[in-house]
Amino acid sequence: MAEDPVGKKLQAAWLELSVPQCGYCQPGQIMSAAALLKRNAKPGDADINQAMQGNLCRCGTYTRIRAAIKQVAEKS
Ligand code: FES
Repeated sequence: MAEDPVGKKLQAAWLELSVPQCGYCQPGQIMSAAALLKRNAKPGDADINQAMQGNLCRCGTYTRIRAAIKQVAEKS
């Protein structure tokens, strides 16, 4: 991810917004977010919901995940 431009931006946003809690689900979350932003550089809430629906987070970090994706989309 760090060598991919989108992945690098997502990692920075994940850190800036303190997205992970336990971290267990986060590799899948960030990979799905990168795939979404490569398909759609400016996703709306419905696009994010659809793209991320296969990744469950028992810690409930969904709000921060959404904020991080939007932050990357707004800066791109
Ligand atoms: S951060 Fe703990 S399961 Fe998602």
